[in-house]
Amino acid sequence: MTPEQAKQLVAEAAIEYLEWDWVIGVGTGSTANLFIDELAKMKANIDGTVASSEASAERLRAHGIKVYELDQVGDLPIYVDGADEATKHLHLIKGGGAALTREKIVAAASAKFVCIADDSKLVDTLGAFPLPIEVIPMAKSYIARQLVKLGGNPVLREGVTTDNGNIIIDVHDLNIANPVELERQINQLAGVVTNGLFAQRGADVLLLGGENGVTKMT
Ligand code: A5P
Repeated sequence: MTPEQAKQLVAEAAIEYLEWDWVIGVGTGSTANLFIDELAKMKANIDGTVASSEASAERLRAHGIKVYELDQVGDLPIYVDGADEATKHLHLIKGGGAALTREKIVAAASAKFVCIADDSKLVDTLGAFPLPIEVIPMAKSYIARQLVKLGGNPVLREGVTTDNGNIIIDVHDLNIANPVELERQINQLAGVVTNGLFAQRGADVLLLGGENGVTKMT
C-alpha cells in the first residue's frame, strides 16, 4: 500500500465522525486535502466549515463548500487534520505546511480533534521531523539563539511567509522527551507565535492508515 492509499483510507474513516448539520474544522496538508474531497461528497449534510489555512479554504470553496470565519461560529464540534509525527500518547508535531498557528487555534476551539495520517507518521519519540516554529520576523535571530540554548539547530524556512505574515524556523535535533513542557517553554519566548508541538492539546483520536486498514488510537 502506498502512503497515498493509506491517507485515503483515513480520510474516508474520518467522515464517520461527522454529524448532520455540523460546522467542521478542517486542517491543512495532503491528508486534509483528501478529507476535503471526501467532505465534498456529503456537503449537503453539513452546515459548513472553518479552515485552518487559505489553501484549505480555497479547496473547500472550489468544491462549493461553505467556509466560515471562526468568529462567525464560535466553538466547533470537531477538527480533522493530519500530522507530521504522532505518538501513542496522541502528542503531535505539525506545521510542515506552515499552517500550525491557525491549526492550533481551530483545534483549541474544537471539542474533538481527529488526527488522520498514514502509519509512517507514528513514532516512539517526537523530533526526527524538525519542529516548526512560527516567529514574528524581527525576532528571528533572538529566537534562533534561544533555540540553540535549548539544544536545537534552527534553520529558517527560506521563501516561506505564513498566512499571518510571519516566518517559520524549523528546529532540528531537539530532544523532545517531554513534549508538554517543551511546547510551553518555546511558546514563552518573546517573538514566538506558536510552535508545532500539539501536546498540551494533542489529538483526541488518532486514525492511522496502513496495510491492515485503519488503526484507531484514543
Ligand atoms: C500543515 O501545516 C501541517 O500541520 C500538516 O497537517 C502536516 O504537515 C501533515 O501534512 P500531510 O498530510 O501532507 O502529511
